[in-house]
Amino acid sequence: MGQIAEELYGRAFANQAMLALLADDAIVADLGCGTGSIAAELAPWVGKVIGVDSSPAMLKAAGRRTAELANVEIRRGELTAVPIEADSCDAALMLLVLSYVADPRPVLAEMARVLKPGGGRWWSICSRTIAKTSASAWVSRSWL
Ligand SMILES: C[S@@+](CC[C@H](N)C(=O)[O-])C[C@H]1O[C@@H](n2cnc3c(N)ncnc32)[C@H](O)[C@@H]1O
Repeated sequence: MGQIAEELYGRAFANQAMLALLADDAIVADLGCGTGSIAAELAPWVGKVIGVDSSPAMLKAAGRRTAELANVEIRRGELTAVPIEADSCDAALMLLVLSYVADPRPVLAEMARVLKPGGGRWWSICSRTIAKTSASAWVSRSWL
């Protein structure tokens, strides 16, 4: 975004324009949801967000943050055994998570399992620094 537009309107409006492209009935898995900030931001634009994390502290924060959002469900679980039904999600996100995983293969297999056959999409975003770590580097080489 240009500097003038950013000064006039901030960055939020561009994010909102992009979020509006999502299907409003989409079911989205936020794997490794942390404090639920992504789930909370997505919630107004989609049908349902299911956040999954294994950390009790993160789950507590995510539960608190999304308590008022009727279409967000936070579940406790490991990313190697995601507590979501197979073939049920339209999209899956895994943001800043793979660098914490020793072997990305079972985690990515779980991501694929929960996506609807044929239509599901997934995104795994790692920072440039984190992408130098083993799991993320493996994903970058093998999948992207
Ligand atoms: C850096 S945080 C990112 C949180 C969130 N995705 C974000 O972008 O704000 C990484 C999260 O992944 C979770 N995580 C890492 N390995 C996991 C695993 N094997 N199973 C479940 N959650 C995991 C951590 O508990 C943590 O909440």
